[in-house]
Amino acid sequence: MTGRTRAVFTILLATGLAGAAPQDSGQASQKPAETSKTAAGAPSPPATYVGSETCGMCHEDIGKAYAKSPHAVVNEGDLHHMKGNGCESCHGPGSRHVETLMPTDIRNFETISPAQIDQTCLTCHRNQPTTSGRIEASHGHNAIACTQCHAIHGNSAETLVARKPADINAKCEGCHLDVKASFTQPFGHRLPQLAMTCVDCHNPHGSFKPGLMRLTAANEPGCLRCHSQYRGPFPVEHAPVRDEGCTACHMPHGSANAKMLIRANVAQVCLECHSNLPTVPRPVLGVVPPAFHDLTSPRYQNCTICHQKIHGSYVDRDLLR
Ligand code: HEC
Ligand code: HEC
Ligand code: HEC
Ligand code: HEC
Ligand code: HEC
Ligand code: HEC
Ligand code: HEC
Ligand code: HEC
Ligand code: HEC
Ligand code: HEC
Repeated sequence: MTGRTRAVFTILLATGLAGAAPQDSGQASQKPAETSKTAAGAPSPPATYVGSETCGMCHEDIGKAYAKSPHAVVNEGDLHHMKGNGCESCHGPGSRHVETLMPTDIRNFETISPAQIDQTCLTCHRNQPTTSGRIEASHGHNAIACTQCHAIHGNSAETLVARKPADINAKCEGCHLDVKASFTQPFGHRLPQLAMTCVDCHNPHGSFKPGLMRLTAANEPGCLRCHSQYRGPFPVEHAPVRDEGCTACHMPHGSANAKMLIRANVAQVCLECHSNLPTVPRPVLGVVPPAFHDLTSPRYQNCTICHQKIHGSYVDRDLLR
């Protein structure tokens, strides 16, 4: 402890912040053991708020950085009735910590569980559209807490929220190395060139769709934000576009095949569903092409030469135009 912190500590004791002490005086001899296990120990009065200025006296750098951070509004305004108590809006009431100077006597994000971290943040952020679906979604289930991606006490806005494409992708790729590799395949979205980021398609906070997929404002697949020509509604739909989604035929993380298709040539993509082949069971099977389709002839290999409106047609039940 520096001379300075000791001085503050003494002042605080003198001004009654440790006001609980008299009640405890009868058990004074047990006190050291008790303070390190306050949660489990005998009833001791709950900690109270001491205010951000007090915290900032000892944690000087953090206090200064905090004053410039977006969370300063909690302290300055009266958001969530936390005026003046910004630090403690996350760390919980701090009087006991100020008394004991034990890191265990304050909510310490290095030691609490990911679920507890999320809970702390969501007391305020729960009702934002960004985080809806959070609890149900994969990152939530897999112990990836808010603080894996958001550093509260950085000294710039970017450490709190990654906004530059390079920073966002680097963050995601740090854990999803396989996906990073996938984007280097010959056909793919230009994500490595930073024309796009992971969060153009995914909402890392959660989604009501599988795979943390971002939706359009109209709750449609997020792909349609950019590929709106396939939005429809089409009088003649191609069933899998709606039922299975774009990934029935495409690999949006990149593919060795042109147009990011799941198979090397178009006929293979189609015949997985439009044939009686039992070797490749698919959830929805289409009809077998009519007999005049001579599948051994190169003319019929490239199905989309004729079935041009493969994503849906306004006029033709065979998706020809
Ligand atoms: C009188 C000085 C003092 C005051 C006031 C004070 N702290 Fe501390 N704080 C310390 C000391 C000393 C440590 C222990 C550092 C260590 O053990 O590495 C500490 C540790 C912590 C830790 C754990 C850090 C870690 O590395 O594990 C947190 C979090 C914390 N303080 C938050 C706060 C908050 C929030 C407030 C205001 C409610 C506050 N402190 C007020 C002196 C103080
Ligand atoms: C929005 C929530 C939030 C607010 C507000 C907040 N903290 Fe923290 N604090 C955290 C989290 C989360 C961590 C864990 C490290 C991280 O993820 O940045 C942390 C870590 C710490 C640490 C220990 C780690 C370190 O960097 O030394 C101290 C000390 C601390 N905070 C003090 C404070 C003080 C003092 C204030 C007010 C000036 C404050 N905190 C305000 C969330 C918050
Ligand atoms: C006491 C309420 C409260 C708590 C608790 C809280 N926040 Fe915040 N947070 C806010 C407010 C208010 C803002 C400022 C909102 C704004 O500028 O629109 C904010 C801003 C943010 C931002 C920046 C938003 C932006 O658009 O730049 C992030 C990221 C964030 N909080 C993450 C967290 C995380 C992670 C935690 C938990 C460690 C947390 N918050 C805990 C109230 C809170
Ligand atoms: C897997 C990484 C990750 C996790 C976990 C995560 N976030 Fe985020 N968060 C981001 C990214 C990336 C952005 C920037 C999004 C953008 O630009 O569209 C962001 C943006 C935000 C914003 C700014 C508002 C906005 O929509 O731009 C807030 C507030 C926020 N997150 C809060 C939280 C809270 C609270 C949690 C925990 C419940 C959390 N985040 C968990 C990555 C994450
Ligand atoms: C700290 C590590 C970590 C970071 C950072 C991270 N993730 Fe994850 N992510 C995971 C884990 C663990 C899972 C669950 C296991 C799995 O599916 O791989 C997961 C799952 C996912 C899933 C699959 C969800 C599902 O339901 O199948 C998507 C999509 C995803 N993450 C996207 C992102 C994006 C986008 C970012 C960057 C904003 C990101 N992740 C950052 C660890 C991380
Ligand atoms: C062009 C849109 C798009 C982009 C960009 C994108 N993804 Fe995906 N991602 C998808 C789709 C679609 C799925 C399949 C979702 C489902 O239905 O389960 C998916 C699935 C995933 C999964 C689940 C497991 C898997 O590998 O299939 C993870 C993890 C994931 N993405 C991470 C990332 C990361 C990390 C990035 C950025 C490097 C990223 N994605 C960029 C569209 C995209
Ligand atoms: C942020 C906008 C954006 C989103 C979201 C998006 N794409 Fe794309 N997509 C593009 C752009 C731009 C191209 C043009 C190719 C390029 O970037 O080189 C493209 C190209 C494609 C191509 C054709 C590639 C080629 O070789 O011509 C396919 C297939 C594709 N996207 C599928 C998808 C799917 C499936 C999704 C959703 C999982 C999706 N896209 C989401 C922007 C987007
Ligand atoms: C039933 C399979 C199938 C489904 C489902 C599907 N596509 Fe395609 N898509 C194809 C085929 C096949 C091509 C190649 C067409 C060609 O070569 O003429 C293609 C081409 C594309 C292209 C490139 C168009 C061009 O002009 O080069 C984009 C973009 C695209 N698809 C986006 C999507 C999106 C977005 C979805 C989901 C809404 C989707 N696809 C669903 C089969 C499909
Ligand atoms: C994931 C499975 C699947 C894939 C892949 C697929 N289809 Fe289909 N297709 C269907 C289903 C299901 C239907 C509608 C049910 C039926 O056949 O009666 C359908 C309908 C059709 C129709 C008739 C339109 C109608 O409503 O009668 C044509 C033509 C067609 N598909 C062509 C293709 C072509 C060409 C490809 C390859 C680019 C392809 N399909 C890929 C499942 C698939
Ligand atoms: C040379 C043009 C041409 C090519 C290439 C072609 N088709 Fe067709 N296809 C047609 C025509 C024309 C019809 C409509 C026949 C009718 O209305 O009787 C049709 C109809 C269909 C139907 C609908 C059958 C029904 O009962 O509604 C399916 C499925 C189909 N084709 C699949 C394929 C697949 C898969 C391929 C690629 C292996 C392919 N087609 C290649 C011209 C073509």
